[in-house]
Amino acid sequence: MKFFIDTANLDQIKEAQDLGVLDGVTTNPSLMAKEGITGRENILKHYVDICNLVDGDVSAEVISTDFDGMVKEGEELAALHEQIVVKIPMIKDGVKALKYFSDKGIRTNCTLVFSVGQALLAAKAGATYVSPFLGRLDDISTDGLQLIADIRLVYDNYAFETEILAASIRHTMHVIDCAKLGSDVMTGPLSSIEGLLSHPLTDIGLEKFLADYNKGNN
Ligand code: E4P
Repeated sequence: MKFFIDTANLDQIKEAQDLGVLDGVTTNPSLMAKEGITGRENILKHYVDICNLVDGDVSAEVISTDFDGMVKEGEELAALHEQIVVKIPMIKDGVKALKYFSDKGIRTNCTLVFSVGQALLAAKAGATYVSPFLGRLDDISTDGLQLIADIRLVYDNYAFETEILAASIRHTMHVIDCAKLGSDVMTGPLSSIEGLLSHPLTDIGLEKFLADYNKGNN
């Protein structure tokens, strides 16, 4: 399972990269705005800064919602750095853009996916990644994990190569459950990854080992 961090914050990205288990970064316009990154030049520069911090894929989202606009923006984003993956919303022109980029060998991440039908369309159009938003489904009392399981089943039925990128991950249990379901990738906050570290018996065990060592060596 690949681990992506879902943020545009350079300090958090560096911290995750330093842990040694990071495979990439996902951003979206809201995450960029949260970091105060505004204006086209600054936004493009920030994507390059992120690429220079991590070894792995960096999803950069288009703002246009029409085919021509998405193609123009996506090509500009892809030209920024070889690690860039163009993030395209699951709308009608987005599906056309996914196919266009797939034919051109430009990698894509289809975002805002909330149903198996949408995931099927994204795979048919040749998306590199599909991003089902499980946390946002949970927020409206719908089973986000069931969507991951259903997409896995459909993709395996037809051996689609599109990777399932479980997005809108909110906590560590989401990461573990997505791993059990065979999600190819997870993207979430640093806390959801660092939460995998913790177990009280590890802390108690280490404390005892060190205490016993100190008894014999002091
Ligand atoms: C990732 O690609 C998505 O943009 C992100 O995971 C959305 O997460 P949120 O629902 O926590 O905003």
